[in-house]
Amino acid sequence: MNNPRIDWSGHDELTPRHVAFIMDGNGRWAKKRALPRTFGHTSGAMRVRAIVERCVERGIPFATLFAFSSENWKRPAEEVSALMSLFVLYLEKEVKDMDNNGVRLKVIGDTSRFDARLQTLIRQAEEKTAHNTRITLTVAANYGGRWDMLQAARRWQADHAGIAGAEMDEEALKPYLSMAYAPDPELVVRTGGEARISNFLLWQSAYAELFFTDVLWPDFSVAEFDRALSWFAAKDRRFGAVTAKVAG
Ligand code: IPE
Ligand code: IPE
Ligand code: MG
Repeated sequence: MNNPRIDWSGHDELTPRHVAFIMDGNGRWAKKRALPRTFGHTSGAMRVRAIVERCVERGIPFATLFAFSSENWKRPAEEVSALMSLFVLYLEKEVKDMDNNGVRLKVIGDTSRFDARLQTLIRQAEEKTAHNTRITLTVAANYGGRWDMLQAARRWQADHAGIAGAEMDEEALKPYLSMAYAPDPELVVRTGGEARISNFLLWQSAYAELFFTDVLWPDFSVAEFDRALSWFAAKDRRFGAVTAKVAG
């Protein structure tokens, strides 16, 4: 168990406690329909609610979405700006419903690069939903796994002035990582056909099961998600050992 503060006693071992999604394929989805890429992003954003609801139904207490990577700034300015507007719109529209539905929203990533309005909306959304306990939905925005490890090391160092770096071990660093409040993702789902991590939760997904599907994110259905969960349930998770922790 990665997080001793959470009581997992009622949790089914065949269901992941934390599923992280790399929501890829929005651009290709739009291209197939001769639409601008931004239409793909809008359609993709509309899939989120059904998937989060399915997590709740399946008893998954943590869901994390990769919405914008630290490398996505390399995209054309119009696309970056459309993605930022979509994020603003999403926060303005969805937070009230999230709150009513027991969703605690968290945002991880270097948000200091966002404009002031978006930063304020993020802070307000996190504050408004902080008391909710049904599910924790984390949105990774301007997030990179390498950035996360670096910021953790820097913050550890700032808190431990004069202490040798050799004192920093895995347990010491963990509280400084941006998802310290969650157990590590046990299942990472990537849509869009690519079998790569693209600098997502590098530290946290060290032992995650990786599910890659060709389905493009705007087409990612509850049925396809259920297929990922069945695939996960059949896995023999050995964690480097010989014996099976979970009988498949
Ligand atoms: C993923 O879809 C969404 C973001 C990276 C913001 P893409 O925009 O990467 O879609 P493809 O991979 O070009 O189809
Ligand atoms: C990963 O998708 C990032 C997000 C889903 C936010 P990308 O489309 O940016 O990844 P690459 O470029 O194919 O590795
Ligand atoms: Mg992509």
